[in-house]
Amino acid sequence: MAKIVIQGGVPLNGDVMISGAKNAVLPILAASLLADEPMDIGNVPHLNDVTTSMALLGEMGVQLTLNEHMRILADPRGVDRFLASYEQVKTMRASILVLGPLVARFGQAEVSLPGGCAIGSRPVDQHIRGLQALGATIRVENGYIHARAGRLKGAHIVMDMVTVTGTENIMMAATLAQGTTVIENAAQEPEVVDLAHCLIAMGAQIEGAGSNTIVVHGVERLGGCRYDVLPDRIETGTFLVAGAITRGKVRARGTRSDTLDAVLNKLEQAGAHINTTADSIEIDMRGNRPRAVSFSTAPYPSFPTDMQAQFAALNTVAEGVGVVTETVFENRFMHIQELVRLGADIQVKGESAIIRGVETLTGAQIMATDLRASAGLVLAGLVAQGETVVDRVYHIDRGYENIEEKLSGLGARIRRIA
Ligand code: EPU
Repeated sequence: MAKIVIQGGVPLNGDVMISGAKNAVLPILAASLLADEPMDIGNVPHLNDVTTSMALLGEMGVQLTLNEHMRILADPRGVDRFLASYEQVKTMRASILVLGPLVARFGQAEVSLPGGCAIGSRPVDQHIRGLQALGATIRVENGYIHARAGRLKGAHIVMDMVTVTGTENIMMAATLAQGTTVIENAAQEPEVVDLAHCLIAMGAQIEGAGSNTIVVHGVERLGGCRYDVLPDRIETGTFLVAGAITRGKVRARGTRSDTLDAVLNKLEQAGAHINTTADSIEIDMRGNRPRAVSFSTAPYPSFPTDMQAQFAALNTVAEGVGVVTETVFENRFMHIQELVRLGADIQVKGESAIIRGVETLTGAQIMATDLRASAGLVLAGLVAQGETVVDRVYHIDRGYENIEEKLSGLGARIRRIA
């Protein structure tokens, strides 16, 4: 199994190009099931989750081609299977995103119920409830969600909690419903907005994406479109923290600073000098030790749970004490004990990790059970003295394109071994 080996201690310096957003491209690929014409999707990141998603849609009958410019042409005209199997959903929970489109366009879907996962129990009751409100009949049996529907009908849906893929599933389904759907307490994440923009380019009528109330006026059909995926704000944030933790200077290019307010705010509190342009963000620590920062994760525009592990890593070597509170997922502290193996001083109390900055971490063998936790461990490895070996790299490959190449481009001593 591949591992990443890091010799820590080099301040990072230079430019890094940011890829398209994983959590935007996955729903956009699923949205191809709604169309009756091909879609041409650009700025697609080279990630394992994209490959998994293409395999899933391919089995349903979507014809997919990926060209050398990382554009996917997705032709849904041959779709004749409406199944997302347990094998697929257990590899990638985001497979649940085919549920809404299949029900809306084909009136049927069998989608495996995702189980618990490394970061929490992650139920999908809100997805199911929303689709039922739109008129679908849903049974959960033998571990599968079995859904049937005639043409869906617009409804007024108040979500019990803010859910990103839940909002996306319902918004996609509502595009083809008869009449108007109002989704209240909707997720406001930039990836939801990106999906809405793509659906609008396909002919959907959507208002309010990016606010907590989304209004969808159903249309008869959706066509193809050419659409470029939003830059990845979490990848961007991860490279900025890489600059901060190593006391270096890093410029993320091809990104959007307006999607990162909460993260940039915390980096400034940590002592970073930040400069933004329309499509770049530069962080400069001027050789200084970061200061510890405290925060609570919460839905957008608050601090993202997907950046929690990276900032936990930053706090381990910062000056002072940082309190990191995770409110979105109940089990997203799996990286904490691994950081302790590198010499970090951390106490976990319920939803909070109290991190007292130490002068130095020391390299060790570590591993993580989810994507962002692994990214946090790689960041810690960049400052740990000696060699850090991060195992189970496949988690990182799900969501970061060539992370070790991009970090080496900034001067890190990092390599992948088989
Ligand atoms: N929840 C429910 N019922 C539901 C849906 C969600 O109780 O029907 C709960 C979840 O258990 C969780 C909270 O609501 O406690 C929020 O979960 P959400 O549904 O928003 O998460 P998600 O849609 O499954 C997406 C991202 C995650 C990201 C979260 C939160 C995608 C494909 N995934 O997951 O990304 O952490 O939103 O922002 O968009 C990652 O990229 O590493 C990742 C895990």
